Amino acid sequence: MQRRHFLQALQAGLGLGALAATGIARAAQAGTGQSGADTYRLFHSALRRDPALAVYAGVEGSQQGQAVVEGRLPADLRGAFYRNGPGRFELGGERYRHWFDGDGFVQRWYIDGGRVTHRGRFVDTRKFVDESAAGQFLYPAFGTHVARRGFRDNDSMNAANTNLLPFGGKLYALWEGGSATEIDPDTLATGGIKTWRNDLQAMPFSAHPKIAPDGTLWNFGALPGSDRLALYRIGRDGSVLQAGMIELPKLALLHDFAVSERHLIFVVPPYDIRDDSELSLAERHIWAGSGSQARPTRVVVVAKDTLAVRRVFDLPPRMVFHFGNAWDEAGGAVTHFDLVLHDGDELAALGHVMEGVREPNRPAAHRAVRVTLDYASGRAATATLLDGAEFPRVMPQVVGQRHRRLAVLSSDRRNQSLALDTVNVVNVDTGQADSWRFGAGWRVEEHVLVPRQGARTELDGYLVGVAQDTAKGASVLTVFDAARVSAGPLALARLPYRTPHCFHGNFLAA
Ligand SMILES: [Fe+2]
Repeated sequence: MQRRHFLQALQAGLGLGALAATGIARAAQAGTGQSGADTYRLFHSALRRDPALAVYAGVEGSQQGQAVVEGRLPADLRGAFYRNGPGRFELGGERYRHWFDGDGFVQRWYIDGGRVTHRGRFVDTRKFVDESAAGQFLYPAFGTHVARRGFRDNDSMNAANTNLLPFGGKLYALWEGGSATEIDPDTLATGGIKTWRNDLQAMPFSAHPKIAPDGTLWNFGALPGSDRLALYRIGRDGSVLQAGMIELPKLALLHDFAVSERHLIFVVPPYDIRDDSELSLAERHIWAGSGSQARPTRVVVVAKDTLAVRRVFDLPPRMVFHFGNAWDEAGGAVTHFDLVLHDGDELAALGHVMEGVREPNRPAAHRAVRVTLDYASGRAATATLLDGAEFPRVMPQVVGQRHRRLAVLSSDRRNQSLALDTVNVVNVDTGQADSWRFGAGWRVEEHVLVPRQGARTELDGYLVGVAQDTAKGASVLTVFDAARVSAGPLALARLPYRTPHCFHGNFLAA
């Protein structure tokens, strides 16, 4: 890999590079104010009728508090549960048009001695600081076209809102379009942009890195519209062990991937990228998976040792955000992985919640699926694990290895609107689910599997997450025995306030 290639990719940026030169000129005629104000009015009108929509409302300032514990917290569960999600959607009377656009609000739930304390604050990104000072949105967001101010690079737009990852003794707020942002593990104060190597400055670094059991980190950076995909392997000390760039025609949004012992597995949904700098990046993604010209979803397998494409498989056209895990069999002749496949263009559907429109619940439209790739035949076989699923996770010690359990949320069929209300640990060999439904008025966020010290099996540990009690306007930390989810939570730790709904997080044992 020659370093100049990274610099070329950087110029392309998120496919938004063309805006950079014209952003200042366009600022005077920024026609986005109207739609942002319309979205604001629609949402607040809907929120008055439906208070549960508060999970899509923002917060102001920072939060700090003590939770009231119901049940009993396990004595051997000690540490920080770090989480991240969008916390500011509105400024100057305008509201973002997509859930992914809000500024990052990082949180730390600390569990120790039967007590739970909580802290949350906004990440002081350059974007957050500039826009707070201006009292209005200035820079383009993923799903909202804003062009009031020109920008220097991808990090000018960095919302740092997707994941909060402990790695190598440090803590990073992640956003897939630009750099990781260093965060103080105790105070959550913002350190600054992390540059892994000088030539990688402001490169996209996805919010879903995979940390192998040996402590090294694999990640990618997607450049929709540039047809290039950056790959990284980073050591525990922060050094770049491998970096590469592969050409991938028709590359669209890539949000997550899976890592096996020998392979990196990417799934590319069929989108065309419209070349229109008046639109946001989300709006420029045109679904190409239906009609007579429908294209397949591609599974692109990259060999870890060479960072070259080994094989491309076709799946029926589906959208994907999240993966569980991958593992190789038969000396690398077969790879298995699990992920959640969505019917159709989920990117557009996710935008409507910002207007206060609840999506109908269609459990068959988003399924956890196991895929088996056979390199000799070129065939990809799929088997459904669970309907209505999202946010898959596995135990950290099985990343890239044979795994047997998948933690995943789901939306019960009794639920009228698309709100995840059930936690599950699924046996990926049989599809059998061990489940607990929180019930009406609850909105469940991603749950993670936390091993007990010296755990021998994937069931030897806890399932830890956050659930929003929308009837009471309160956020609750949840702890289940990973082997007995259907027995209900071991403990619930209830805050006296509501925290922003997070996308992703990770537990760091004390
Ligand atoms: Fe994600």
